[in-house]
Amino acid sequence: MSDLAISIQNISKVYRIDPTTGGAASRTLQEDLVNFAKNPLRRTTSSKKQEIWALNDVSFDVHEGEVIGLIGRNGAGKSTLLKILSRITEPTHGFADIFGRVGSLLEVGTGFHTELTGRENIYLSGAILGMRKAEIDRKFDQIVEFSGVSKFIETPVKRYSSGMAVRLAFAVAAHLDPEILLVDEVLAVGDASFQKKSLGKMSEVAESGRTVIFVSHNMGAIKNLCTRAVLLDGGKALVDGDVDHVVQEYLITASEKGEWHTEIADREDRQGSGALRFTGFQLRGSNGSTVEAAVAGEAVEFVLQFQCNSEKIQNASIMIWLRDAFTKGLLRLGTELTAQSFNELPQEGKIICRVPRFSLRPGRYFIDLGADIDGVKADRVIRAVTLDVVGGDFYGSGKVPLHPNDGDLLCEHSWRLG
Ligand SMILES: Nc1ncnc2c1ncn2[C@@H]1O[C@H](COP(=O)(O)OP(=O)(O)OP(=O)(O)O)[C@@H](O)[C@H]1O
Ligand SMILES: [Mg+2]
Repeated sequence: MSDLAISIQNISKVYRIDPTTGGAASRTLQEDLVNFAKNPLRRTTSSKKQEIWALNDVSFDVHEGEVIGLIGRNGAGKSTLLKILSRITEPTHGFADIFGRVGSLLEVGTGFHTELTGRENIYLSGAILGMRKAEIDRKFDQIVEFSGVSKFIETPVKRYSSGMAVRLAFAVAAHLDPEILLVDEVLAVGDASFQKKSLGKMSEVAESGRTVIFVSHNMGAIKNLCTRAVLLDGGKALVDGDVDHVVQEYLITASEKGEWHTEIADREDRQGSGALRFTGFQLRGSNGSTVEAAVAGEAVEFVLQFQCNSEKIQNASIMIWLRDAFTKGLLRLGTELTAQSFNELPQEGKIICRVPRFSLRPGRYFIDLGADIDGVKADRVIRAVTLDVVGGDFYGSGKVPLHPNDGDLLCEHSWRLG
């Protein structure tokens, strides 16, 4: 076995949130700082505070050259672990030994100083990685070229769009030769060609024998890139080992825990008369139980909870759009397409749309919801929920296209000599 790169020993992280302030927990370092600046004297040990164990006694070792996929449902603790490893936040208990220079690419903008220009940030990141100026000089042009932001390289990063900031951050993290690279779900951002470039660069980094921890909800990318996977669940490292096995376990634990997304009810940026409004969303799998992710090739049900402003609403048509991260429409499901409509709707209830064989390849998608009553727009919720699709056996051959350039759609087909 090669040398140790990272040793994670009994790490726990407790966040304390104050329910009296609405329980709103900050999610980023920047928010932590802003909160502190707003209210420096707020005591952190108030007994009213609720504790969240973002990580609970996590231990595992990573050896040099391993490419680890860190997976788990939303809130499992993945980003928290990467923040601890990149020393952005401290663990409450336990510690991590790290042997090598760490480059990390976490949330948009972490690590960048927004007042500084792109150029200054590249030099600063290099210096933090312990590189000499001459080394950074040598890499500078490559980084700028890869990022595609050369026109803005003398512009302060605060003027960048989030996409531009991610591109530059990825270019820096991947080119400055860190011995250990930590990457948190960056591939969800950026355009398709940049995603492709990033995946390519990641596999190059992985193949060059460097150590990588890669967090993603894209099981295709995890299976493609990683040599081992660790499943976090409720802050604990539940399973650790062979990628296929861990991904399978993820699907099982996710399906046991799928739940209602009720945050839709609070969305105020919706359009329509409000005669019918969506108030919740749930995903169900082939056996009707709730799931966290859809499986390509298997049945999936979209369960839409609604409320009407009067009883016995007539002639309701319902639609669901599935979009990619760039809001491109991939699929529309609609009662008008299947020549159905709902009559006599109760004041609240559920509408279920069943897709017998789900045909999008693994990845992260976004769902827009719509309802019309008698042809009049009643509700539209854009990006109501995210939809994760994980690898399944759509073709019955065990194979799914994984290359970013292969498109998002799966389609039944066969071949013959003519
Ligand atoms: N700064 C914070 N203050 C309070 N709670 C936090 C903070 N950051 C994270 N948490 C909580 O810790 C838990 C783990 O969060 P974390 O961001 O690590 O999850 P994750 O696995 O990265 O999820 P996702 O897949 O949604 O990115 C969650 O319950 C989250 O709400
Ligand atoms: Mg995260």
